[in-house]
Amino acid sequence: MSMNSKNINSLYDSIDKDRLPKHVAIIMDGNGRWAKNRFLPRTAGHREGVERVKEIVEVSGNLGIEFLTLFAFSTENWTRPKEEINVLMKLLVEYLRKELNTLHDNNVKINILGNLEKLPQLPREEVYYAINKTRNNNKMVLNIALNYGGRSEIIKAIQSLIKDVQDAHVAIEDIDENIFSNYLFTSNQPDPDLLIRPSGEKRISNFLLYQIAYTEFVFTDVYWPEFTKEEFYKSIIEFQSRKRRFGGV
Ligand code: FPP
Repeated sequence: MSMNSKNINSLYDSIDKDRLPKHVAIIMDGNGRWAKNRFLPRTAGHREGVERVKEIVEVSGNLGIEFLTLFAFSTENWTRPKEEINVLMKLLVEYLRKELNTLHDNNVKINILGNLEKLPQLPREEVYYAINKTRNNNKMVLNIALNYGGRSEIIKAIQSLIKDVQDAHVAIEDIDENIFSNYLFTSNQPDPDLLIRPSGEKRISNFLLYQIAYTEFVFTDVYWPEFTKEEFYKSIIEFQSRKRRFGGV
């Protein structure tokens, strides 16, 4: 056995399989810097980032994590050069085309957080196809945040809720956290237990603002293209070392 697989196995063994996070969210950051350090174009970082997406989705399913949420494209990412946006959209389409059958065979349900209407036609249609094909799957939910912003998610939820109040489907006095959360893109899902942000940045960047009230944060210095399953296991072990009190004692 190589040293590397020995390390991975002992990390894997250190994870308490009875105390896994149910919902893990990840801000996939640092693709550009990873590429720059290697004198490669930024898009090479995104391409390598997709390899980590495949790896982390696979190990999450194997571990039995029920909800995995990946921040793929924010509402602010439209300000990037058109060429880079095109490559990101192309990588998303390629990912779905290549991986959809495997995801489906593994009983993964694809769900999108974000407003899909603003996506270019090709990725939009590919995404709708994937959602539809996997809609009855129930082993793991893969949330892909696409054209996602946390504040706009909350505002959209408020608009829909007000409409339901106006149409007399909801009474104002009945509105509580539970009802409100069902107007978010993550309706019927548990809040993230663990949020991971690689690349050394320690901020939330408008991600899941409502849902992260009691989430544990793990920040790590490696760039997303280097975030292998080994790093993922380390983040889960770090999560399991935390004492969660949810405001209690
Ligand atoms: C952040 O790195 C990463 C992104 C904005 C895109 C993430 C997208 C992928 C990994 C590929 C497509 C997604 C799927 C689900 C197939 P950055 O470019 O902000 O890096 P930097 O901060 O170093 O510049």
